[in-house]
Formats: sequence, structure tokens, C-alpha cells
Amino acid sequence: MCGIFGYIGKDMPVASYVEGLSRLEYRGYDSCGIAAIKNGEFFIRKRQGKINQLKCELRDELNSQYPLAILHTRWATHGKPNQINSHPHFDCKKQISVVHNGIIENYLSLKEELIRQGHKFVSETDTEVIVHLIEKYYSGSLEDAVFAAVKKLSGSFALSVISTRTPDELIGVRKGSPLIIGLGRDGNFLASDIPAILPFTNKVIYLKDGELAILKKDEVKIFSFDKKPLGARIEKISIHPQDAEKKHYEHFMRKEIFEQPEVLRKIFSLYVTGNTIRFPQINLKNPFLKKVKNVFIAACGTAYHAGYIAKYFLEKYCDLDVEIDTSSEFRYRKINFHTGDLFITISQSGETADTLSAVREAKKKGVKVLSICNVLGSSLVKESDGLIFTYAGPEIGVASTKAYTAQIMALLLFCLHTAHIRGTLSRKSFCRMLKELGQIPRYQKEILGKEKEIKTIAKDFSRFGCFLFLGRGINFPSALEGALKLKEISYIPAEGYPAGEMKHGPIALIDEYRGVICIAPQDDLYDKMISNIQEIKARKGKILGIVNRTDTQASRLSDELIYIPGLKYQDFSPLLVAVALQLFAYHVAKNLGREIDQPRNLAKSVTVE
Ligand code: AGP
Repeated sequence: MCGIFGYIGKDMPVASYVEGLSRLEYRGYDSCGIAAIKNGEFFIRKRQGKINQLKCELRDELNSQYPLAILHTRWATHGKPNQINSHPHFDCKKQISVVHNGIIENYLSLKEELIRQGHKFVSETDTEVIVHLIEKYYSGSLEDAVFAAVKKLSGSFALSVISTRTPDELIGVRKGSPLIIGLGRDGNFLASDIPAILPFTNKVIYLKDGELAILKKDEVKIFSFDKKPLGARIEKISIHPQDAEKKHYEHFMRKEIFEQPEVLRKIFSLYVTGNTIRFPQINLKNPFLKKVKNVFIAACGTAYHAGYIAKYFLEKYCDLDVEIDTSSEFRYRKINFHTGDLFITISQSGETADTLSAVREAKKKGVKVLSICNVLGSSLVKESDGLIFTYAGPEIGVASTKAYTAQIMALLLFCLHTAHIRGTLSRKSFCRMLKELGQIPRYQKEILGKEKEIKTIAKDFSRFGCFLFLGRGINFPSALEGALKLKEISYIPAEGYPAGEMKHGPIALIDEYRGVICIAPQDDLYDKMISNIQEIKARKGKILGIVNRTDTQASRLSDELIYIPGLKYQDFSPLLVAVALQLFAYHVAKNLGREIDQPRNLAKSVTVE
């Protein structure tokens, strides 16, 4: 939910520090700040607003060089977004500074005790407790004070700590929120996520929960919280810096929408050879997949919608009983797991707090955990038994697009793989389905080629104050996802609904002031969908039909149409519907002048509950 960036080494210009921080802005952007140290003095700038505004304030300092600094971009949890609550935070004597990502659950009791001991607080944040706690324990060694302080904290925290009294060290702490070390040529870095490190180095260490790192300009030491020295696990990242840049696109979201055909082609080519599907890191033996009876799926937001599509597929093609829930609900339910059950979780970031908690609950009950994830070094990957990596590359736009269709492709390949092992799909159907799945990138390109028409339709539909997205069967989750895409970047209320539910209430909403998106590929439920469209038409709802080019009925009833290629296996159509509705949402939001890559109140990864 926040972005942390820090560096210690050869002098570096403020502009480079800000560049690193700006690559984390998708994690939170209501306020930001820097604390740098030189000649025993702090240089501090922090403010409400985005990093560009901070950069303007720093315009006379951008060339100034500092050997040590910590920076932060915030998504407010405790205390409203303003200058005084922005990070970094300081102790009473302004000799120690901290930036934090996470939530300190016991901050109130700690704050009361520290105030009784004479500490003066200036902000409403939970974070400020940390720096006063370090001050309380400081007696000459910053690392000892940090070790002592973290023992008192409960909740989730990734910290970066510096002090004018020990200007030769930068301390990083990880417990429940991600923190990565970058090993550079002239110094070492701390960051919440890979994109911030990419311009400086490709050598990283993923800190694990319960670890504290002491970075000096030419060395890194890692310890457990009880001060046991740990080995440094250096990894090389294969992502190139430009993968995390906008290039010629106006928004990351539009870039990532257009990257989807290439992403799906890459996934397909990495996991499919001829008519064989292989997942090198799945770590689930064939006998297990042959015997499994119950599958549980938990995820959040868009990832949940991908899981919902997998549910339909696993039931239909693998003869499995599948239950799905949002992670935030799943983790508190009393689920009766049985030996041999499979728990599948899906997460682009691999750091979503509720999803991590759901995984931990499942593992406590001895259930095998398979993760579909897009960040190799993430907590989720480290805590799962098996992994299907989605190879989507960094997804910077807060609204998930390429990660979503990558998750669906990975899940559909897993379903086919499992159906083959369980013998619930004939070899002939398996090969035919695999062949068509391999054509999806080409079909997605066809839809992307219709952006101009979609933009015109979006402009016309932008006038509506409320939307309904309707789908049936495997495209009911497509309706949920289309509604989420629209609402999270345009701020227009939008609801995804199973079309068959319309007469049980939502049809009361329909009148000429409603936009209704009807997903109606020519599949087994097409005729039912046509009846729903007629009901909406009769009540003057403005209908956008998502239809096949060979369509004969929905196209006559709809006010506007977005065509998607017809498929032999229409169960793959969510991969095409998604692209059409992503472009629709993007252009509605653009037409309304919204902050598309950084929508209000949101952040890319929800690392707090
Ligand atoms: C999707 O557009 C949203 N940004 C959000 O719903 C997201 O999908 C959800 O927070 C899950 O994130 P994850 O995939 O990183 O776990």
C-alpha cells in the first residue's frame, strides 16, 4: 500500500532518488517525502500530493548529491493524507528517521506509553511510534535499537531506518510487507518492489519475514530478529528497466492492455510444447491431481474473477467440486478441508494481505497450495507448495489488465493439463482446445484493432451515471470484471450480475438513463441471454452488446456493438471479452478526464487488511 525507497553509497543526485521513488508510485500516491543525510545533517522535504509535486518543490535540489537517503510514497491508513502525516517520520531530537509500509496494530498502547515517557508526537500515524521506539532504545547502536524496537511491534511492517548519528548504515526490516535489497555498483538499495531498483541494478536479495538487513555502501548483512546472522541469497532479475516504463503510451494501463497478445503468446510458448503442457514449478504430482476431489479457490478483486472463470472450467472439464470465495471472506470461514484437497490462489503481486492470510489458514490444515502469481520473489510464491508463474512482466497500472488474462490463460492451461491427467477430456478434444487456445493472442489483436470504434462507443456511454454488466455461465465473471474495470478508473457505479438474476431485482434499475453491457457470445446460453436483452430493451435500457460477428439476434436488439471473434470453444471467450471491456473502461475514464493509472483511493497492491 506504500512505496519505500532507500540508498547508501557513493553520492547520488536527488533526481535519482526521486526517479527510484516515482517507480513505486503505483503503490500509493496521496503524499510523499525524502530524508537525506550529509555531513551529519538531515535534508528533509515531504508533502501531501504526488511525486511530481514533490519534484517541483525540489527543483533547486535535484542536482544536490547525498550518500544516504530514505524516501516514501504513501497510501494513508492511519491519519489523513497531509504534510504532517507524510513520511519520513522523526524522533524527538530529529536524529533518527523512518519510512514504513504496513500497519502497526498495537500502536495506540505503544504511543500512550511513549508519551508517558516524555516523547512528543506530531502526527496521527502509527508509523511515528516506530521512530520514537527506536529513539527510546538507542544507546549508541542504531541496529540494536531497531532490533529492540521491532520486538515490540505487532502487525505488518517494512521499514527503512537512518540516523545522523550513524551515517554509514541504512537499515531495512521486513515483517509482512515486501522489502527488496538491490546490490549496486556504487552502493546498495532498499525498495518495496523491483521497478524502483531496475534502473540501478539487476542483482537483488528478497528479504523474508522476520529479517533485518544492515546495508553499508559496500556490504550487506542480514539477520533474523533474534540477531542470528543469515546468508545473503543474491538473485538476478530478468526484467529489463524499459519493461516498467510507459514508452510511447499515454498511460501504463493502455500499454498493458496492448501487451496482452504478447504476454499470452509467451505463456503459451513457455508451458506448451506440441500437445504437451508442462509446468516446471507446479510441484503437484500426477497421482495427486488424478485423485483430488475438492478444489478451493481464494483471491481478491480481478484475481478473484480469474479464479471464478477457472471454477467453471474445472467443474466442466475436470469433474471437480470447486468452491471459490474472496480471500477476505475465505480466511475467516470454518472450511472443512480434507486430505487430498487442493487450494488454488491467484495474485498478481503475491503480496495481498488477505490472500496471504487465506494461504496460511489453508496450510495450517495441511492443504496443498498452488499459486498463480506474477512476481517471482513475492511472499505468496515463497509460501506456496506449487507455482504457475504468469510471465506478464511488471503491471504498473492500478487497474489490472494483462495480469488478468495471463491468470486466465495459466488457469485454462492448468485445467486442460489436469483434465488430461484425470482422463476427463478425450485426447482429440484436448488437442483441439489447446490449438484454439494458442490462437487467442491473434484474436485479441483483432479486438485491439477496433479501438477507434470502441472509443466512440465509450464516449457516447460516458454520459450514464450507472452501469450494469450482464453475463451468463463462464461470462458471468467477465461481467464482474468489466464492472470492476469501469468503476475503479471512471468512478461510475457499475455492477456485474448474472443475467438470469435480473428479474430478481436489478431490472428495477433499468430505464433510459442506464448503460447495460450484455455479454452475448453464441454459446450454450445465448438464447437465454437474448431473452434478458429483450427484457432490457423493453424498459429502454441503453444496450452495448458484446457479440460475435456472426450474431443475428443480439446485434439487432443492441444500441451499440463490440464484436469479438467467434470461437469453436466459446468457454475461452472471457479472454476476448476482457480486452473489449478493458478498452471500453479505459476510454470512458479518459473521456471523463480521470487519473487512469492512479485512480483515487486505490493502490496497486493491498498489503494491509
Ligand atoms: C484490479 O484492477 C484491482 N487493482 C484489484 O482488484 C486487484 O486485482 C486486487 O487487489 C488483487 O491484487 P493481487 O492480484 O495483487 O492479489
